[in-house]
Amino acid sequence: MMKTILITGGAGFIGSHVVRHFVKKYPQYRIVNVDVLTYAGNLENLKDLEHESNYYFIKGDISKIQEVENIFSYYKPTGVIHLAAESHVDRSITNPLAFVQTNVIGTVNLLQTALKYWQDDLQNKLFHHVSTDEVYGSLGETGLFKETTCYDPHSPYSASKASSDHFVRAYSDTYALPVVITNCSNNYGPNQFPEKLIPLCINNILHGIEIPIYGKGENSRDWLYVTDHAEAIDLVFHQGKFGETYNIGGNQESTNLNLVEMICDLMDQELDRDKNSSKKLIRFVKDRPGHDFRYAIDANKIKNELGFKPTYNLKSGLEATIKWYLQNKNWLDKVTSGEYKEYYKKHYQGEK
Ligand code: NAD
Ligand code: DAU
Repeated sequence: MMKTILITGGAGFIGSHVVRHFVKKYPQYRIVNVDVLTYAGNLENLKDLEHESNYYFIKGDISKIQEVENIFSYYKPTGVIHLAAESHVDRSITNPLAFVQTNVIGTVNLLQTALKYWQDDLQNKLFHHVSTDEVYGSLGETGLFKETTCYDPHSPYSASKASSDHFVRAYSDTYALPVVITNCSNNYGPNQFPEKLIPLCINNILHGIEIPIYGKGENSRDWLYVTDHAEAIDLVFHQGKFGETYNIGGNQESTNLNLVEMICDLMDQELDRDKNSSKKLIRFVKDRPGHDFRYAIDANKIKNELGFKPTYNLKSGLEATIKWYLQNKNWLDKVTSGEYKEYYKKHYQGEK
């Protein structure tokens, strides 16, 4: 019988790259993608996989336990790679309950159902929880997040992810459920919804719209190209030790201002516009409440134990990302119509 892996949130940004990676690389696995298709879920991200014989899509809501049970009962997965989440910090500030519902309740529903179906034979089972470095809180000018760093979340998003991580560990410690957790830094690349800084910036430059930078642009993030994250998840899923946590990062730190300026320069080149023309769109706007100052990952554990090495640096990753968005303007136009316009007006222009 084929091994069946349930991937949650596979129609989203990272999930779609993880689904593609597994469907293509492991034809011997049956990949079942469950996604409720929120504003961030988009089946167009997976159009090229529609006819793959080892790929299945189910529209389902992980915050409803009966829906999760139905999937387990029908497909009998032996592995779960759990990415489904509400993922945008700014949205968590205006609507925290949606984050509790999916990120906390949804995760516990999956854990509880996996336990129910797996408990009689825990051999060859694995629950891989995909989490974030934001659970560790904020760094000062120096230092790196290690797997042993204490949790200190500040936003409703990071608090909900921290809570889900705690539940995953609780199911491992209490019921011996085989789990691994990965905590990754900021991802970017094709198919990222343009509410996040990099695609928002690309979209705004393309349309001559101001680029909003929170505060002074001094906050700093550690950027990882999304296909490198998919590769790291593959490594941990297949070779990680049960009960362990692995931090994943690209070792490509940048302040937001520096990052936006890099994007402006690359966009000027790609669009054949005058040098420095995109930088004129930069506007410093009101800071995000509770804005974490700096994230940076110590990725030595996954490097030394599993041999993970990212293939992209920030420059080559941004070049590839910009090229993808410019070649896929239809994708961008579709996702920025409708709900996005309302969100943008409310969030950036203060309209009710
Ligand atoms: P995303 O918002 O692009 O995608 C999330 C997906 O989950 C969407 O397809 C959405 O429809 C689906 N979903 C939401 N609620 C659901 C529910 N109740 N039931 C089923 N599906 C549901 O998010 P992303 O950026 O791809 O992040 C994926 C995961 O990786 C998240 O768990 C996130 O916390 C984590 N992560 C993200 C980053 C990053 O930089 N984006 C970094 C580290 C970790
Ligand atoms: O670190 C991993 C996390 O990275 C993931 O867990 C989250 O799902 C993902 O959204 C991301 O969180 P951030 O808050 O770091 O990403 P975002 O793209 O929203 O913002 C990146 C930085 O840019 C952050 O310091 C806030 C700033 N920013 C963001 C937006 C949307 C701006 O200055 N202006 C903006 O308009």
